[in-house]
Amino acid sequence: MAIIEIFNLTKKFKDTEALKGINVEIEEGEVFSLLGPNGAGKTTLISILTSILKPTSGTARVNGFDIIKQPLEVRKSIGIVFQEPSLDELLTAYENLYLHSMLYNMPKDKARKRILDMLNTVGLYDRKDHIVRTFSGGMKRRLEIARGLLHTPKVLFLDEPTLGLDPLSRRTIWDYIKKVKKEENTTIILTTHYMEEAESLSDRVSIINKGEIIELDSPENLKKKLGDEILKIKGEIDSEKIKNLNFIKNIVFKDGYFIITSKEITQNLSEILKYVKPKDIEFKKTSLEDVFLNITGKKIEELDEE
Ligand SMILES: Nc1ncnc2c1ncn2[C@@H]1O[C@H](COP(=O)(O)OP(=O)(O)OP(=O)(O)O)[C@@H](O)[C@H]1O
Ligand SMILES: [Mg+2]
Repeated sequence: MAIIEIFNLTKKFKDTEALKGINVEIEEGEVFSLLGPNGAGKTTLISILTSILKPTSGTARVNGFDIIKQPLEVRKSIGIVFQEPSLDELLTAYENLYLHSMLYNMPKDKARKRILDMLNTVGLYDRKDHIVRTFSGGMKRRLEIARGLLHTPKVLFLDEPTLGLDPLSRRTIWDYIKKVKKEENTTIILTTHYMEEAESLSDRVSIINKGEIIELDSPENLKKKLGDEILKIKGEIDSEKIKNLNFIKNIVFKDGYFIITSKEITQNLSEILKYVKPKDIEFKKTSLEDVFLNITGKKIEELDEE
């Protein structure tokens, strides 16, 4: 069943078309990620789905509630972790969550139990009485996730949950997100710049750029479409001839290498090599990064810079 339905959503800020007609259904219980560079429209989409921002046209239903006509119902049924940190640094972990429970009118006894449970879920139980200012970046993020889940929302939005964290803290957060999905059965929508994050967490990934979703599928299917393996060749190459071979999917030039994607690349290697004077050849398993590169022609960091 679709827990989120998005109908032709657009958003304009003066001259900027931040969203250009988004149509997506998100299934109950799935982890759905929006993978895209700076300015792609990820936060704008999340802000609209959480009813913080009004769309220019189109609408969406979240948990059955219309984001324009029923914003309060939408907000009650969701949890959000914003891109920008939003904890009170001078309060303890427990106090931050307690404040949130009051905002959501949770009965005191119920709130107390739920706060302790959630602190446990994100591995912060032992730190509950410490003030947040003494926490690491990763611990703060985990506390925000606990806060987002406190009122048992059916949908949790995570806007760049691991931006700026070191690789180890990032992985720790991934483990907690997986745990939350399993234990709380929450539908999770997350935005990210990180290929590995999208790949490791998502049931489905949508690649978003310049306000449009340009590809959407499970990580496995996205890779399968390109072929399981890709071939990287450095050297002289007749790329036009190779492109015209019927088993070739795509060929792009990046960082001195021709990157060739094909259904059955090993079986067809001899055919490809007819048109190549190789200096270096490398086979590798197709990654989500290859998918991104093939679709956009660029790496995500390059699009960030534009
Ligand atoms: N309040 C605003 N006023 C004007 N333009 C805005 C506003 N918010 C966003 N934009 C523009 O809309 C586009 C999409 O921005 P958005 O923040 O949604 O991108 P993003 O994908 O979340 O990027 P990042 O990865 O940097 O967080 C950008 O061009 C941005 O400058
Ligand atoms: Mg953003």
